[in-house]
Amino acid sequence: MSDSDASLATALEETPGRAERYFAEAASELSLRAARAEFLGKKGHLTALLRGMAEVPADQRKAVGERVNVVREQVEHAFEARLKSLRLAERSAALSGRPEDLTLPARFGTPKGHRHPIASVRDEILDIFSSLGFEIAWGPQVELETNNFEKLAFPPDHPATDMQDSFWVRVEGAPENQRVLLRTHTSNVQVRQMSTRTPPMAVVSGGAVYRRDDDVTHSPMFHQIEGFRVDQRVSFAELKGVLIEFARRLYGSSTQVRFRPSYFPFVEPGAEVDVGCVFCTPTDGTRAACRVCKATGWLEILGCGMIHPQVFTECGIDAERYTGFAFGLGVERVAMLRYGIPDIRLLFENDPRFLAQF
Ligand code: DAH
Repeated sequence: MSDSDASLATALEETPGRAERYFAEAASELSLRAARAEFLGKKGHLTALLRGMAEVPADQRKAVGERVNVVREQVEHAFEARLKSLRLAERSAALSGRPEDLTLPARFGTPKGHRHPIASVRDEILDIFSSLGFEIAWGPQVELETNNFEKLAFPPDHPATDMQDSFWVRVEGAPENQRVLLRTHTSNVQVRQMSTRTPPMAVVSGGAVYRRDDDVTHSPMFHQIEGFRVDQRVSFAELKGVLIEFARRLYGSSTQVRFRPSYFPFVEPGAEVDVGCVFCTPTDGTRAACRVCKATGWLEILGCGMIHPQVFTECGIDAERYTGFAFGLGVERVAMLRYGIPDIRLLFENDPRFLAQF
């Protein structure tokens, strides 16, 4: 064994003990890790010793190599043991130290969330109808074509039934010869209720509906409220009374309301209802410049009418005996008019800077 072999052997022999003593001096995990690097790192002692391997005669290299590996493991063990005892000490110091006072008030106020404006407006509308005697019902968003269109007397070639206008979906287990889509309006609830119940009934329903539209006033998903009442001798006068009362409770008791003849396949006669513009007045020059009502002084808020006899027949209700009215309105539109929201997409981006304003 040459001198250099002997000194390499001694150095290896001494390394684990040296490392252990050195690690014991480290008082924190950070300095312990630095100490470890001094032994095992690229520029560490052990790597330096390995460089001496070049001078070890070839026949002894294997044995020395194995010895180096054992030493490396011993140093690694010394490091792990010290790390463990440092962590234990830290933990028991934390446990025996002053406990944290969990009852102290937070330094910064916790931000509180609140209901989404769409949910508030939807419930406000449902509450008004509920207080007028309507019961609340719900219906599915994935619907059969027959409940969404056919039983509502849409002619088969109506543009709304087009692939371009609705979201058609494939559903396993759906009845044969029946197409399935995301409902395009909440009028499906009318069909479902009337098909399973006997009059009299007065029902409102609210929820998400879907159409292939997307711009500042149209979102592919939006919300509607549908309401209807069926009984003997329900009249158009009653429809007007209910909707005028609704509009005044929603927008204020002096709100102007007008009915305009309009067409929907499931009502006859049909009408659209406008309320006086809440953003401008005719006398102070604001009307001429009003972009919301486009200077007309009126805002359309809903569609309505007397339920078409064909719809009754489709749903198994005696059209000779019963009459009824129905109406449908857009929740986003009411919210946008109420709060002066210029772009419907703001309602769905859920930016807290927007939502915090309600
Ligand atoms: N379903 C119609 C739509 O989505 C709204 C509607 C109009 C509903 C008239 C009704 C009604 O019940 O009578 O545009």
